[in-house]
Order: sequence, then structure tokens, then C-alpha cells
Amino acid sequence: MISTLLSQLNGPDGDSTPRLAYGADYNPEQWPREVWEEDVRLMREAGVNLVSVGIFSWARIQPAQDEWDFGWLDEVMDLLHAGGIGVDLATATASPPPWLTTAHPEILPVTASGETVWPGARQHWRPTSPVFRTHALRLVRTMAERYADHPALVAWHVSNELGCHNIYDFSDDAARAFRDWLRDRYTTLDALNHAWGTAFWSQRYSDWEQILPPRLTASHPNPTQQLDFKRFSSDALKEYLRAERDVLREVTPDVPVTTNFMVMGGTKGMNYPDWAGEIDFVSNDHYVHPGPQDRDELSFSANLTSGIADGRPWFLMEHSTSAVNWQPVNVAKRPGDLARDSLLHVAHGADAVCFFQWRQSAAGAEKYHSAMVPHAGADSEVFRAVAGLGRSLQALAPVAGSEREPARVGIVYDWESWWASEQDSHPTALLDYRQEALDWYSALLSLGVRADVVTTTADLDRYDVLIAPVLHVIPAPLAKELTRYVESGGHLVTTYFSGVVDENDHVWLGGHPGALRDLLGIRIEEFGPLLDGDSVDLDGGGTGTLWTDRITVTDPTVEVLAGYRTGAYAGLPAVTRRAVGGGSAAYVSTRLGADGLAGLLPRLLGPAGVHSELPDGARGSVEQTVRRGPGGRFLFLVNRTDETVPLTGLAGEVLLGTADAEGGLVLGPRDVAVLRQPAT
Ligand code: GAL
Repeated sequence: MISTLLSQLNGPDGDSTPRLAYGADYNPEQWPREVWEEDVRLMREAGVNLVSVGIFSWARIQPAQDEWDFGWLDEVMDLLHAGGIGVDLATATASPPPWLTTAHPEILPVTASGETVWPGARQHWRPTSPVFRTHALRLVRTMAERYADHPALVAWHVSNELGCHNIYDFSDDAARAFRDWLRDRYTTLDALNHAWGTAFWSQRYSDWEQILPPRLTASHPNPTQQLDFKRFSSDALKEYLRAERDVLREVTPDVPVTTNFMVMGGTKGMNYPDWAGEIDFVSNDHYVHPGPQDRDELSFSANLTSGIADGRPWFLMEHSTSAVNWQPVNVAKRPGDLARDSLLHVAHGADAVCFFQWRQSAAGAEKYHSAMVPHAGADSEVFRAVAGLGRSLQALAPVAGSEREPARVGIVYDWESWWASEQDSHPTALLDYRQEALDWYSALLSLGVRADVVTTTADLDRYDVLIAPVLHVIPAPLAKELTRYVESGGHLVTTYFSGVVDENDHVWLGGHPGALRDLLGIRIEEFGPLLDGDSVDLDGGGTGTLWTDRITVTDPTVEVLAGYRTGAYAGLPAVTRRAVGGGSAAYVSTRLGADGLAGLLPRLLGPAGVHSELPDGARGSVEQTVRRGPGGRFLFLVNRTDETVPLTGLAGEVLLGTADAEGGLVLGPRDVAVLRQPAT
């Protein structure tokens, strides 16, 4: 469906060669009519061919329950079409209008401590409210019927960033829906009581009606209740997504449906791998959080989005041309960042590069958020960079539709482990699941080793090495699968606090890490978390923080790759590996950070024969990704540094980049080059 969509983006000239989509959220209702024509003219100048319209337009489209105002939107759709710009039309349900919340305050979410989340911002609706759903689906149907045959319509954009502000709702509607969800999961109260371990602290339930969401409690709420509420909350939004999608599919069966995910630092409530199958193509929003690993994080998020899309192309639906408005300090991007950030997403499979938003608002909470047309207007560095990126994306048209070529290393990213490992009442409150995964990713980037970020449902056999940091929740079937993977020659690397609990958050007994104990050939009787600021040294180099384990080797074939040199476990193993046939299972018991892991990784990758595919001088400075499609094999080379990096020995047609006098490539600071090689 994505390729049909991409081939519709060439304007009215009839050319149907697919190309990459380029554009933004477009909010014309914030501007007088005369600005709209200038918008379309500038969009064409910038190479824009796709905009998302109507995301926050509910109050404008439906000013009262039985009053509709589509005239302005008809005109916007017509103008865009005449300009050759396709529309990813929002269902407009993201922010309910004041008339609805006044008539039906029972749609407003409620916090864990019972406070109402009032209107005045956006996304103030309960995912489980039947009243909200009735009104929202009426709007969806009306939109779909009105624009079904409009030639500008190329895709549907369901709501907006579902769960961004309303993932956890503790209202009575949520309580009812949670009970229904639990009945489905457990069938009997006995099964629920067992799973939740309610023998503890006198929590045994004798009636379904006694069960509540984990509202504000006197002490630690039941951990499995919390974990189930996270699962339920993600499912409730997924269910809502399906409800909108079903209406759209009924009315416009040929128009693809998407919704914008938020795979980025700072969000974790929505289990996107579990949502991806519900839509026709995956879309993601990403914003940079300035910091030492910021572009590694961008790459990691884009890579994970590709994993969620199972390697197929996806859309970058939002990112920023420069500063955002919602961080404590909103840093402007440096020259070159706008293009590199965008192209890094394309390198990881994005077939669309879109921004929030087209024209920077003059009023409202986002007036200091950058846009494609800034407050300064089109005569600005930002707009020139925007137009330059438009030209680059045109040059990359042959990439459209290509998929990711699997790397040899996979990093396993698991939502259940993320949720469960960071719950309260644990050995440490300092554990950061995403950071640990990101550190492994950064370490691989610094070695120039390509890795895919994948979920546990991916085809793990694609990978020679699987790195599963803090894979905390391991149900019996996954333990079996990982054992099979290793026994059939795979190399598994895992870390502290992995394999400790099953799907009910019950500890695997007999010594940690219960689910992987035999496979790893080790046994841990007690965890040794470290106080903030404390560290331990490893022999052979490396410093551990956060966590240590007192490891006993139980299998004589286990090799100790590094031991603790200092700390309570000095002299005991810190990193182990057990060879199993042609495969192996390794365990890293402390947090080494990106630098420490870069030091250790060559020893972990060695047995699999995995090494950098980059030329010597480029390792550490350049990130390489590969996409493959009928049009060729596309090598993306992204300069991670502020220095110029010469590249030698790379063959292929230069689609993007600068060749030097000898025919090699030179990557300027923060530059991106793309080479096309024959698809073999
Ligand atoms: C996203 C949202 C946009 C805009 C943007 C600002 O979360 O979808 O509407 O608010 O953030 O960065």
C-alpha cells in the first residue's frame, strides 16, 4: 500500500514513479485565507508533496453537536490538490471541543489520585469512554464520507499520537474496562488471584467488582496489577485505534490507514510492536533530546521503528526543523542538523520525512516550536535548509519502497521487560531499561558494527548475535526459544536482571537468572545493586555502575571473560560465556556504559566473526545502514561527527554526496552520502 501511496505523490503531471514523501502537519485554520495560497506556493518551492491536515480541527469542523463546517476544509483540500500535494487526512478526533466536554464531562480522564484532567490543552479524553467513542466515531464517519472521493486524499491519519497525554486513565470507565480485560485474560478469579499473588498483604479478591485500577495507594501497589494495568492501557488505546480504523476501512477500503507512533526517549506506555499489525503502514514521530547520545538515540529510535515495521518502509510523520517548545531549554539545531537528522531516519527505512509543522504558529502553546516556515518567513536559513532537503529527497527517489537489509547483530527490545524491570519495590530504582539498550547500540555504532533493533517476535534466527539487555520477563516459551537459538549456533548476550521473572512477574525460583540459568551455566543467589555514585572495577579494564551480581559458575565449560577487581564481589566473575556447540550464551552482570561495552564487545562478537563493514578511517565516525529494493542496494553513510571524513574503497553510484578528486567520497561535518549498488 505504501508504494501506491508514494506513486501518487508526483502532482498532477501524471508521472507515477514512486518518490519519498516530504511535508508536515499543516494547520491552515490558524491562518487567514490569504496565507493558504502562499503556503501552497512555498510548499511547491520546498518540494513538499504530502501534508497532514485537520489533526486538531474538531472544534472548527463541528462547532456544535449537530452543526458542521466543512467549507474551509474543502477549499484547503482543493488548493492542495491543485498544487500537486497529497493529503494525509486526520480523523480530527485528537482533541475534543469545548461543547462536548461541557455536555459530557464524563469523558475526561482521571489521575491515579482522583483528579479530573480538565480541558484547556488537548487529548483530554478517556480511551474507554463509550460516550467519547460515539462522538468521535461519528466525526470519523462524517469525515470519511465527505472526502472519500477527494483526489487529494492519499492516507488517513487516525487521531494523533494516541496515548501521548492520556495513556493512563484511572476513571470508573477505565475500572470497568480493566475488569472486562482481566476476565478475558484470566477467565476465573482464582487464576487472577494466583497471577497477582494476592495471598500477599491480604489482597485476595472474591468478586470481580472489587478490582480497581492501581489508584493511589498507601504503599507499593501490587506489581502484577500494575503490569496488567500497563498492558490493559496499551490495549485500550489499540482497541480505540481499531474502532476508528474499522470505520475508515468500511467507507474508504482503498485508502491506507496509519497513526503516528512515538518511538523516542520519554515515552513507554504504548506497546507499538503489538499495534503495528492494526494499521496499513507504520508512522513515527521523533524529537531530539539534546545530550551526549542524542543522535545515537535518534538512530536507535529510527532503527527500532524499522524493527516494529518488520523491516518494511515507514513514515517519519513528525520531527522538528529546529527547536521544540516543551523541553526545559529548547536548543536550536546547528547548520546541517536538519538534513542529517531527517536523512538518518531515511537511512533506517523512512519513506517520508515530515515535520511538525508547516508554518510556525503566531499564537498558542507551540508558538516557539520551530517549523518549515519560521516566524522570520521564507527568507530564512531554516526555509533554505528545508528547500535543500527537498532537493536531496528528490535525488533519493530510487530508495522509495526499499526495505532494510538485516544486519548480523540484533538488539532485542522488549516492552514487557521495559515495563516490569522499572517497577517500584525492586533492588534498585535507578535501572533505566532504554538507556541500557541505547548504551549497547552506541557501543556498536562506535565500533562501526551495524545492528538491528528488534522485538522478541522478530525472526531471531536472522541474527548471528543477539544482544538482549535486561530481558527481565522471560516466559517459558521464550526461554525455550532462546535456548534453541543458542543450540542452533546463535550467540546470545544478556545482562543483569534478565530472565528473573515470568509473564506474571513471578520470580523463577532456584537461583537467578532462573529462565536462563542452565543456558548461561551460572547461578546468582543475591543481587548486588550499587548506590548512586558507587562503582566497581573489572579486571582487564571497564568500570561497572548500578548493579553487580554474585555469580557462581555451575557449568565447567563456562569461560570467565572478566572478573570484579574491586567491590564486594572482588575476585568473582563479572562477565561469563558458555560455549554451546557452535553457539554461545554470555552474561554481563554490571552496567558498563557505552565506552565500557565498546571495550568488551569485540570479545563478545569474536566467536560469531562479526566485525565492522566500514573502511578503517570511518569506524567510530560514520554510521552505515543498508536498504535494499528492486531499484538496488542503497548504502547510507552518515557522518556522526563535526569533522570531515574521507571514505575510500566504496563502490556504487553516488545518489547523494560529494566525490573527491580520486573518485572517493568525502563526508563533510554531519553530512550524509547515499550510494546505489546493484541489487544482487
Ligand atoms: C507532538 C504532537 C504535535 C506537536 C509536537 C511538538 O507530540 O503530535 O502536535 O505538539 O509534538 O513537538
